[in-house]
Amino acid sequence: MKSIAFFETTKREEQFLRKKFGRNISVQFFEEKIQDVPVQKFIKTDVISVFIYSVVTKELLAKMKNLTLVATRSTGFNHIDVKEAAKRGITVMNVPYYGENTVAEHTFALILSLSRNIHKAYVRTLRDDFSLKGLQGFDLKGKILGVIGAGSIGLHVIKMARGFGLKVIAYDERQNHFLAETLDFNYIPLQELLERSDIISLHCPSNERTHHLLNMENISAVKKGALFINTARGDLIETRALHYALNNGIFAGAGLDVFEGEELVQEENQMLTRNVPVEKLQALLQKNILLKMENVILTPHMAFDSVEAVERILQTTVDNIFAFESGSPKYVVNAV
Ligand code: NAI
Repeated sequence: MKSIAFFETTKREEQFLRKKFGRNISVQFFEEKIQDVPVQKFIKTDVISVFIYSVVTKELLAKMKNLTLVATRSTGFNHIDVKEAAKRGITVMNVPYYGENTVAEHTFALILSLSRNIHKAYVRTLRDDFSLKGLQGFDLKGKILGVIGAGSIGLHVIKMARGFGLKVIAYDERQNHFLAETLDFNYIPLQELLERSDIISLHCPSNERTHHLLNMENISAVKKGALFINTARGDLIETRALHYALNNGIFAGAGLDVFEGEELVQEENQMLTRNVPVEKLQALLQKNILLKMENVILTPHMAFDSVEAVERILQTTVDNIFAFESGSPKYVVNAV
């Protein structure tokens, strides 16, 4: 390995990473996404490391004749053409674990903000209004939390829920009865989870089976007045069903770290000058309507973003690069 180029890095990340590589390796850092940097600046590099907003295309891979490794600093790798990389003998590695507790903690930040009206109180006290009117919350203790997707993050949410005295039910296509017994929760069908939960929290991946898992057909099954939390992926719930549920008292509130069309928000200004498909404009409009609802909290896909989780991502990426170099790579996502 002679050279590495990191993309989408902050100054703090650069400081962390610089210390990890010796003087005989040339290391470049770019704050921009890979597609926003002229390719001539890194074309001869043999290792690149990107985050999720950098798109590693077939065309780019074809230009980088020395490239042997793409180390993404994320779990997901759908921003990289992994098949084309495999064809060209380029290994792609990811960071499969880094923030199960981190995302679970953010899930509880959203639940508690809604259950105790923290977001409303914050805005009021900023205006020097200290009245309690309309701010009464409810206890979590004794309520039922329905977890959809009891994998790494979902199980951390369940562990934390037990500390609050919540009862837990879960829906998952794969079931681990030993864990269910240890953590004291039950697996039940989706329909029953919707009917019984006081809080519904999504923790399954986005794929063709989970796309619009909650939709106009099943949303009315939800227990009236439940809270809805989504820190997984926006398309797990049909946005029309989310609006319907919020407008009709089916959901008393929603805490959303993700929503359909969130990837367009950064491009919002360009939308006005470009010919943009109607569904994209609809997604943005829906976001603006959600923002106006006082029982909805939106955070900008930040559940993963803690100091500790980001350090774990960087350290695993460094380990990935050295493991690849020594011939024993662990987290490879394409068969080269
Ligand atoms: P995981 O793979 O450990 O767990 C996912 C669980 O969902 C598994 O138990 C799986 O069996 C279940 N599942 C899959 N398909 C299902 C279906 N059709 N019906 C019911 N259950 C199904 O994944 P992990 O690490 O817990 O992450 C969950 C999701 O959280 C990720 O896919 C990602 O979308 C999201 N995430 C969000 C972050 C954020 O910053 N907001 C950060 C990291 C992950």
